[in-house]
Amino acid sequence: MDQKYWKEMYENTTKKFEKKARFIGSVFIAFNTNIDDIKYVDENLIEFLDYKDYSTKENGKSEIRSVDDFKNGLLASMRDGKAREWIVKDMITYEWLRKKIEYDKRLIGGQAGIVANLLSRIGIGKVIVFNSMLADEEAEMYEKNVVMPIHSLGNIHLVKPKEAVNTKDSKTNLIFEFKKGMKVSTRDEMFFVPRSNRFIISYRPSGREPIFPAEFEDNFDEIFRGVKRVFLSGYQNLPNSENSFFKVKVQLAKMKKVNSELKIHFEFTSEENRKHVEKLARFVMSECDSLGCNERECEILLRGLDEEKLADDLKYSDYGVVKLCEAAKKIMAKTSVSRIQIHNLGYMVCLVKKKYGNPHQLLDALLFSSETVFTKSMKQIIKNVDDIDINLEYSISERGIDELKRFEKMTNMEKIGEGVFESGKYYFMVVPMKESKHVKTTVGLGDTISSVGFIGDLI
Ligand code: GLC
Repeated sequence: MDQKYWKEMYENTTKKFEKKARFIGSVFIAFNTNIDDIKYVDENLIEFLDYKDYSTKENGKSEIRSVDDFKNGLLASMRDGKAREWIVKDMITYEWLRKKIEYDKRLIGGQAGIVANLLSRIGIGKVIVFNSMLADEEAEMYEKNVVMPIHSLGNIHLVKPKEAVNTKDSKTNLIFEFKKGMKVSTRDEMFFVPRSNRFIISYRPSGREPIFPAEFEDNFDEIFRGVKRVFLSGYQNLPNSENSFFKVKVQLAKMKKVNSELKIHFEFTSEENRKHVEKLARFVMSECDSLGCNERECEILLRGLDEEKLADDLKYSDYGVVKLCEAAKKIMAKTSVSRIQIHNLGYMVCLVKKKYGNPHQLLDALLFSSETVFTKSMKQIIKNVDDIDINLEYSISERGIDELKRFEKMTNMEKIGEGVFESGKYYFMVVPMKESKHVKTTVGLGDTISSVGFIGDLI
């Protein structure tokens, strides 16, 4: 099927969602919320950082202890077009970077923060977001109908973010977005950035660990009553001890116990520490229903699960659809999630166990998530559901269409609809995505596609 078919599919599903989004009930989101100071990397910044006289001195650590660490990280990200997130270990360097660089935008950040505002803007009935620490400026950035649970006088209350403020210390991450094609020269090398992406400097004050405090855990039945979907992220910030991971596992199991209809999604990010990945799989994914990541994170996850050969094959296939499907099956077998959504450049795939839901509804959710992410990449902020404009200039990714054709040819799954396949206990979906040359931003796109894809079948 060609451009015309998919364009029509996109148009029809988007219209349907625009009408019905507000009928989707309560969604609960946690944990990582912060502020993002966003800088679009340009010639001036490259000059200011004096790269042309710079020699890289990487030490293999993903930490910021000096301005040179920052330069190395940004350079490495730009060289291979890969997203990286390095942690602040020296406050003087962090303050220097905040003061000396003029940022272009200050927005809500963190997967949870971004998803909360996005879902609220596209009209989801009730959006509840939780983070154990919230500063005034962060609270100001939330949409009007986002609510937060607080504990007072032995009970849980859902309040406006302003009423949930409990710290003065806001958390600001620094995001450096760079564009494909930009020329970068240093003393030792010259390259063109191969892919638009970002380098993130992550400030991690203590007290924001992704675990529910005891007084919340004791009231899970109240918190999760009537909630249909839970979107969780930020477990990459958990201390790497069995104890804290075990606490999380117990909390996840408890959530499902108090509300058996609840579906929990975990958004996996580029966590490079293998032991951490292994723990995320063993303690977190084993309790979740759904999992989201991009093609490179899928490779990292496979390595964390000791699937080196498949991870290599996936990489050498240039993250092609057949290997992604195989990877999704392997991850499902090893973690027990029932749904995996993986986004790639130009297309996404989703594997579900049949008992998870109706494949055609699930496909619609993926289409709408792709439409939403396309709009966000073009406009940066989606103000409301009508902002999702089906008339923006675009084409359907040729790569996406080719991958779908390849999948049809090379596997023995039975086709039960355009982009939908069936085999044994599974449905598998392949969706070519919309694309445009005028992409403004990359930060938060993965969170957008995963969250809308996960809740979209509630329509
Ligand atoms: C990570 C970063 C956060 C950013 C988010 C976007 O969570 O810590 O600053 O907003 O990624 O996905």
